[in-house]
Amino acid sequence: YVGDCPTRRRASEVILRGLSRIDYRGYDSAGMTLFEPGTNGDGKLVRFRTVGEASRLVEKSSTNGYRTSILGIGHTRWATHGKPSEENAHPHASCLRDVMVVHNGEIENYEQLRRELETTGCGPNAGTCTFSSETDTEVLAHRISREYYRGRNAGNFFLSVKRALRGVIGTFGLAAIHREFPDRLVAARRSSSVVLGIGESENFLASDPNAFSEYTDKVVYLDDEDVALVMKDRYMIESLEDEDGVRTARDEEKIALEDTEAEDKGSYEHYMLKEIFDQRESLARVMGGRLISGDGRAKLDGLKTNSAHDYLAGAENVFFVGCGTSGFAGEVGVWVFERLTDKRVEVYSSSTFLRRNIRLKEGRDAVVVLSYSGETADTLDVVRELRDRNLPVFGITGVVRSPIGRETTAGVHLHIGREFGVASSKAFTAQVAVTFLMGLLLGRGTHLSRQEGCAVADALLRVPERVGFVFEQAQHIQAVAERYAHLENFYFLGEGYTEPIAKEGALKLKEISYAHAEAYSLRAMKHGPIALIGPRHPSV
Ligand code: F6R
Repeated sequence: YVGDCPTRRRASEVILRGLSRIDYRGYDSAGMTLFEPGTNGDGKLVRFRTVGEASRLVEKSSTNGYRTSILGIGHTRWATHGKPSEENAHPHASCLRDVMVVHNGEIENYEQLRRELETTGCGPNAGTCTFSSETDTEVLAHRISREYYRGRNAGNFFLSVKRALRGVIGTFGLAAIHREFPDRLVAARRSSSVVLGIGESENFLASDPNAFSEYTDKVVYLDDEDVALVMKDRYMIESLEDEDGVRTARDEEKIALEDTEAEDKGSYEHYMLKEIFDQRESLARVMGGRLISGDGRAKLDGLKTNSAHDYLAGAENVFFVGCGTSGFAGEVGVWVFERLTDKRVEVYSSSTFLRRNIRLKEGRDAVVVLSYSGETADTLDVVRELRDRNLPVFGITGVVRSPIGRETTAGVHLHIGREFGVASSKAFTAQVAVTFLMGLLLGRGTHLSRQEGCAVADALLRVPERVGFVFEQAQHIQAVAERYAHLENFYFLGEGYTEPIAKEGALKLKEISYAHAEAYSLRAMKHGPIALIGPRHPSV
């Protein structure tokens, strides 16, 4: 946040409220840095960090800056590099504490950059550079600080960020502040979204516009490779690559509808519970108006663009590609397509797909990527690689404005609203539903009889109600969970199309409870893994 006057709005309040509105993005640690003005026009950067939820920052941040600051950055984290701890929580600082950075994404070459900084040093007198966290992000703060004292960049914060990001391999949505500049934020984006919110004598930046949507609905979505300088009453955007300071124009628009959907937990204790229980509704929404039950067909308007439907109908082979949960939805999709269509179907995780030398041929092969967020780097790589090879690529996505949503040739949108829990529950079931819709659409165009199409369509229409029936067992499910909660190892077993569902179940348990869970095919199980089964190693 960069604002005008603390009596009108305090940076600390905007940031803490913003973090609380996007805490579904991560909640194992959080932090905030404020510019605290001094008496002589100078000032310092004060930082508060905590393990756990962002709300804990409130107790911690009771300094002067808390009341007087009009500039600050905040972050909430889901630990990847380094454990959840105060040292690893963002914002990360340079050695001189002149620069602080919050970052979403992954710096792939951070170890190399770290060694480089340890050799060259980071401050005005070079020499040393000391790291205080285990994160990949910290290198960014040191690099910006180093650039600030170097050659042509000297004294120019914006240019320092631009230069510091050259040579960085990986993805980032970042915001930085500098002690010498109490009036500005610098942001940059590669793959991880960054949205600028435009107010009256105040401006906002966030990875997700929900963080500031209560103050403004006028936004600019940064594009990849954009770097932005943001002050209270103006902003400018350049390209990271550009050497000559050429401004890039981006449209100011109204916040996308999907970004303003209620983020309220309602009566649920956690977003995750809300999202699990929302599935009845989200499944009804994803199929709503798309099933023609009397005819056993589906209609998907998203596949009307760029002759997508014709291409898919003509393709012999379909490749589903996604990561994690989305990949498992694709794995279920293989069974669905094999049953409903005349295609040969395969599924790949995005990270493997590009490492294989699959000889894709235009017209014959169709790649369908699945991604709820539309931002996942490995999946986006697949989209871009295929586009570079002039091959069409189709999407099943949750966020229309996302890079994958925009860069795919055509696709099917989930229409299930925002994902607020980390478990991706709504996304999984909705993606599976879309594979059924696509399967019906394609199958009924070839060999699938009207009778069989109708049977599938009718069964699909009953799914939301049956999901509701499962939810009625919630108390019973809770009792079972409590009985086994103390154990640390679980098998999830399935066969055929339920095997990927078992994989998804195991993933959920790992991610949410940190217990170990392994998924296996029921039949393959007896060839070894069965040895572990016992009272302390139950199976689902
Ligand atoms: C699981 C989970 C991840 C994501 C994966 C793909 O709960 O969150 O496995 O499913 O990172 O994300 P999207 O679908 O956004 O591409």
